[in-house]
Amino acid sequence: MDKIRLGLVGCGGMGTRHLYGLRELAQTPFNKVELCALCDIRRENAELAAVEAEKLLGIRPEVFTELEEMTRKIPSLTAVDVVTDPSVHHTVACQALDLGLHVMVEKPMAITVKACQMMIDAAARNNRQLSVAENYRRDPSARLVRHLLDTGAIGAPYMALFHSLSAGNSIFITPWRHLKDKGGPIVDLGVHFTDLIRYQLGDIAEVYGDVWLIEPVRAKPDSIGDTYTFYQNRFRGMAAEVPATAEDTSLAIFRMESGVTVNWMVSVGGSGSYGGQLILGNKGSINGFGTRGGRIGMKPADQAEMSQEEIVAAVDGFALEPLAEHLFPDCITDSDSKVDWKIIALEYHELAEAILTGRTLEVDGSEGLKDVAAVYAIFESARAGRAVKMREVETCQVYEYQSEIDHALGL
Ligand SMILES: NC(=O)c1ccc[n+]([C@@H]2O[C@H](COP(=O)([O-])OP(=O)(O)OC[C@H]3O[C@@H](n4cnc5c(N)ncnc54)[C@H](O)[C@@H]3O)[C@@H](O)[C@H]2O)c1
Repeated sequence: MDKIRLGLVGCGGMGTRHLYGLRELAQTPFNKVELCALCDIRRENAELAAVEAEKLLGIRPEVFTELEEMTRKIPSLTAVDVVTDPSVHHTVACQALDLGLHVMVEKPMAITVKACQMMIDAAARNNRQLSVAENYRRDPSARLVRHLLDTGAIGAPYMALFHSLSAGNSIFITPWRHLKDKGGPIVDLGVHFTDLIRYQLGDIAEVYGDVWLIEPVRAKPDSIGDTYTFYQNRFRGMAAEVPATAEDTSLAIFRMESGVTVNWMVSVGGSGSYGGQLILGNKGSINGFGTRGGRIGMKPADQAEMSQEEIVAAVDGFALEPLAEHLFPDCITDSDSKVDWKIIALEYHELAEAILTGRTLEVDGSEGLKDVAAVYAIFESARAGRAVKMREVETCQVYEYQSEIDHALGL
């Protein structure tokens, strides 16, 4: 087998973007993925995706509304890409793994830590790959920050800030993102950030935090930026107002295993907009953790601030993996309109190589669980009224907040 045969499950907004990622990959000499089928419980979403796929890839994949039927009817299906809303990631992924398929799942890996563990167990008992499509860390800016930290460019890190406050009561992409048992905005966005924090600074030891629901009613915005047909169609049918049950504002201190302390402020609502990321070391600072389509800077002690271009030109030993180097020859993604698709191409490529050649997955089930647990640690700390150890959250010993979600979903 020189290519994996893939089914895409969940053909909504991000599912559509994954098709563009497949097109980016298909345009390189590296492609080892063949899209064979599309599956969505809403047939019209899968049909629309089939039209997009034909336009982008020149083939019209078969359309299904049930995973089991898709697996039975598509010969030699190797893997599925799960891009449903997070409340069913575990259901779809565990079913696929038990059907003998490898799985890539969008972030957040699952709706709770318990659901993540169910997926890890299903992958282990079926001896299948389980990859979490965490994109931010794959941007060259994130790779560069990691290289700078690993090579001591700012000395020993001691403190970091991760602030992302976004004011207002507009619906955040989809109504489901405001519902506690679908994930909520802090979990949906926050796993990108906990993944980046862990990628750059290592594992988290302890979390103290608080959360608030500031905007209990969300309003349809005047317009959306995305031009994809799926997003535009859904926007037209969106209710004028939706109730919110998930907290939209969070504040935390993360004490890392290394002794570094990270100050976290993340909101998708409320009255203040504010942002910034800074990693402070005893010999300088880095402005940014690296993020999809972003750019970083560095200020070595007693020197002027360096731009990303200047850093790339000055550092020794910094290299991207071969496909990333092909897609991002300048190591800069700022103002690259295709960055979203290119990073999705990298995720697919890694999955294919893991299946075909045994390459190690970068964000596997255990890493994906840590990202989810780190965000929920803020909620669990708020509920418990004390700092919580990550060990307690990752093993579900501190679990009051998430147990309500598990109960609602019958987990
Ligand atoms: N990495 C990123 O930057 C990024 C960006 C956006 C979304 N996402 C993630 O992608 C996932 C999907 O988000 P979205 O915005 O595309 O949501 P969406 O609501 O637009 O699409 C979800 C789709 O899944 C379908 N679906 C639901 N349950 C299903 C099931 N059991 N079987 C088959 N299909 C099912 C729905 O009908 C819908 O078409 C989420 O986990 C989200 O967090 C990631």
